[in-house]
Amino acid sequence: TTRDHVRRLRGIRERAIQGDELATERQHAKGKLTARERLEHLLDDGSFTEIDLFRRRATGPDAAGPFTDGVVTGAGTVHGRRVFAYAQDFRVFGGSLGEEHAAKIHKVMDLAIAAGAPLIALNDSGGARIQEGVTALAGYGGIFRRNVRASGVIPQISIILGPCAGGAAYSPALTDFTFMVRETSHMFITGPDVIKTVTGESVTHEELGGAQVHAATSGVATFVYDDEAACLDDVRYLISLLPSNNHDLSPVCETGDPPDRRCPRLADLVPANPKIPYDIREVITEIADHGEFLEVHEHWARNLVCALARLGGRTVGILANQPVVRAGVLDIDASQKGARFVQMCDAFSIPLVTLVDVPGFLPGVDQEHQGIIRHGARLLYAYCDATVPRVQVILRKAYGGAYIVMDSRSIGADLSFAWPINEIAVMGAEAAVGVIYRKELAAADDPDRLRSQLIADYTEELMHPYYAPERGLVDDVIDPADTRVVVIRALDLLSEKRPDLMPRKHGNPPA
Ligand code: COA
Repeated sequence: TTRDHVRRLRGIRERAIQGDELATERQHAKGKLTARERLEHLLDDGSFTEIDLFRRRATGPDAAGPFTDGVVTGAGTVHGRRVFAYAQDFRVFGGSLGEEHAAKIHKVMDLAIAAGAPLIALNDSGGARIQEGVTALAGYGGIFRRNVRASGVIPQISIILGPCAGGAAYSPALTDFTFMVRETSHMFITGPDVIKTVTGESVTHEELGGAQVHAATSGVATFVYDDEAACLDDVRYLISLLPSNNHDLSPVCETGDPPDRRCPRLADLVPANPKIPYDIREVITEIADHGEFLEVHEHWARNLVCALARLGGRTVGILANQPVVRAGVLDIDASQKGARFVQMCDAFSIPLVTLVDVPGFLPGVDQEHQGIIRHGARLLYAYCDATVPRVQVILRKAYGGAYIVMDSRSIGADLSFAWPINEIAVMGAEAAVGVIYRKELAAADDPDRLRSQLIADYTEELMHPYYAPERGLVDDVIDPADTRVVVIRALDLLSEKRPDLMPRKHGNPPA
């Protein structure tokens, strides 16, 4: 009867979902959650809809492989909003990617793109399924192609919760955000054994491709955590800040933090002397709704802080020079970090707020030879290309090319504000005087006295805080305490901004 079939269905489904208990124990013994436990933590309670549970592969003429083929796919909600997800199940063939496994991932990716909802990939896999030969590799190709098609259309988030090596590592690199967990996640193109053979270098998995290394050194990981639960919680937080797709805006949330809240502490936080450092994150804390923000690449290129936050309930992307790290100079890593962040914000209609306190680009043979010109240009390109509302606030110093690159009005910021302690200039007064008056100083009886006089004159004439505002390069000089109020108002003014784009296939940004 039908009822018998239904009873049988229930039994098969239960066994398929439960999987091999010994394998579950082995996964837990490594301090790892299973794929289903991870999805449960990530998604709203009871919201998961699975697809392709019964998909599997024949492993011989009479033998069928386990259900799911090592990956759990489907959709659910995060804070009530639809997302699609796949989670590799290390308990089944080490989460390795075979033909059916790949086809399931392709299907859920296609659904996410069609539905215009974020795609979340939970990676935990031994790589291409060796028994299936080169077809497994073609499966990766299909993922990469879809990652690129979906890029800038839906947010794509990669969570690494186990091994992710060889070709598999390229999918996360193509997505918008990569989350890793210390001791649990490992990513590399070639592992320690191959490296030992080829270059003779000895290195552990954790040293080569652990979460901390990718968070602080390579810049591969956007976010890093001590445990899976904290990691998955932050994925939920990130999703809450992002739109579902490129036609949508991030949800506006009534944070209860008044848009007209003044920030008097800012005047004490930032010393007028441009040589005295302070932590720019404290400034962001003052300005952001409830002092909350989500920093991307917190441990990499720390001289530039990039963060998502809410201002008046709206998601914004904040870029800010960090005076406590290498005086906040721009270098290659900071340029790469900033460029990708600006590009991501622009793709997902997130307005940009740029807080400037920058002494310039980092001088050095190494930086020049590694291509600071290309990388700095990449950041410049990303800003020039961005059509979202763009607001610049110059806190203190803004010198030379770095001033122009940090979203100056001349490259397309819609509105620019400066504090009354700003020093917007081609370079610092000391350096400027050294160049312009080299001969006079060399010939002077008392060069030190002359130098101080010239520095004072130069500062008074070309570097005073109203020089740029007088020329329309800055739209207003503001009381630091009003920064939050002014920026929120500016974003309001610009909320209906329409991009004015010329048709082209695509630009050719420097890499
Ligand atoms: N293809 C097929 N099966 C794989 C696999 C792969 N790429 N990677 C892992 N597995 C299987 C293992 O054979 C093992 O199966 P078993 O339980 O039936 O013995 C199971 O997954 C668990 O793997 P195990 O090696 O016990 O786990 P571990 O945590 O000790 O090691 C890896 C994890 C990823 C380091 C290790 O499995 C490995 O080196 N895998 C091969 C990676 C590789 O060379 N991939 C090539 C394609 S890029």
